[in-house]
Amino acid sequence: MHITLRQFQVFEAVARHLSFTQAAKELHLSQPAVSMQIKQMEEQIGLHLFEHLGKQVFLTEAGREAYRYSRVIAQQLEEMEAVMAELKGASRGKLTISVASTANYFIPTLLGVFHERFPDVTVSLNVTNRETLLRQLSENEVDLVVMGQPPKDMDLEAGAFMDNPLVVIAPPEHPLAKEKNIPIARLGDEIFLTRERGSGTRSAIERFFKQRGIRLNTGMEIASNEAIKQSVQAGLGLGLLSRDTLEMELALEKLVILDVEDFPILRHWYVMHRKGKRLTTVAQAFKDFLLTEARAILHPPAPV
Ligand code: PGA
Repeated sequence: MHITLRQFQVFEAVARHLSFTQAAKELHLSQPAVSMQIKQMEEQIGLHLFEHLGKQVFLTEAGREAYRYSRVIAQQLEEMEAVMAELKGASRGKLTISVASTANYFIPTLLGVFHERFPDVTVSLNVTNRETLLRQLSENEVDLVVMGQPPKDMDLEAGAFMDNPLVVIAPPEHPLAKEKNIPIARLGDEIFLTRERGSGTRSAIERFFKQRGIRLNTGMEIASNEAIKQSVQAGLGLGLLSRDTLEMELALEKLVILDVEDFPILRHWYVMHRKGKRLTTVAQAFKDFLLTEARAILHPPAPV
């Protein structure tokens, strides 16, 4: 039995009005077109759906059964339309984002605020390194990516939404901890615990040292901001990390930021996707949210 959705819709209208003329009017069809759809549907089913007694139209028993089903189908279609409309309105839907490991320190807070506004949005958050982020961008695997410096060799739409200053950290008892305006050349005498290759922080630091002709003495390569902080506290060397990773240690005075000339290294956080990508409504809403509100949520102006 091959009944089309259109035949069902026409049938539903005729059955509801018990009139071919009324159904034709409602559906903006000619009456012969309506009759044709019903005839074809009856042929498919192998039973008559209507009886004509004089000018009056009646449903047959098969017609009454078919009408029951057609009502259910019509309701389901209406429901689907409403769900799709909701999806367009971003109150539901799925958001898939990938962020650099350093962004892990603030993205959950932002997702918390976003979730309050769109509680029915399901979020899939992936925290990974820059190399994976670049692959995901090029293969269009996720809705949005959040990281530092966008790559120059990719056609991207990238919007900066917040500062990402990189600072030099030391344990509070370090000899440089109390010094002011430390000449940058002094860093050449220190051992640094650096992030792994492929990390955005790492490449920004290497660029910075190279531009100033200072040697970067890498004591240990550590692929985790947390482990770098612990190792700096343990006196294994200095660290160079995003200020965003340090809130807790600074508050507890377990680490201090050294006052070095030319620091902090000024960077920004970007939200990005491939140029021309058609963002879902939810993704667009989250992107707008980052661009317009993230800074104020994470770094509210100090009360005066
Ligand atoms: P990360 O930093 O890759 O060092 O975690 C993010 C970035 O700067 O892109």
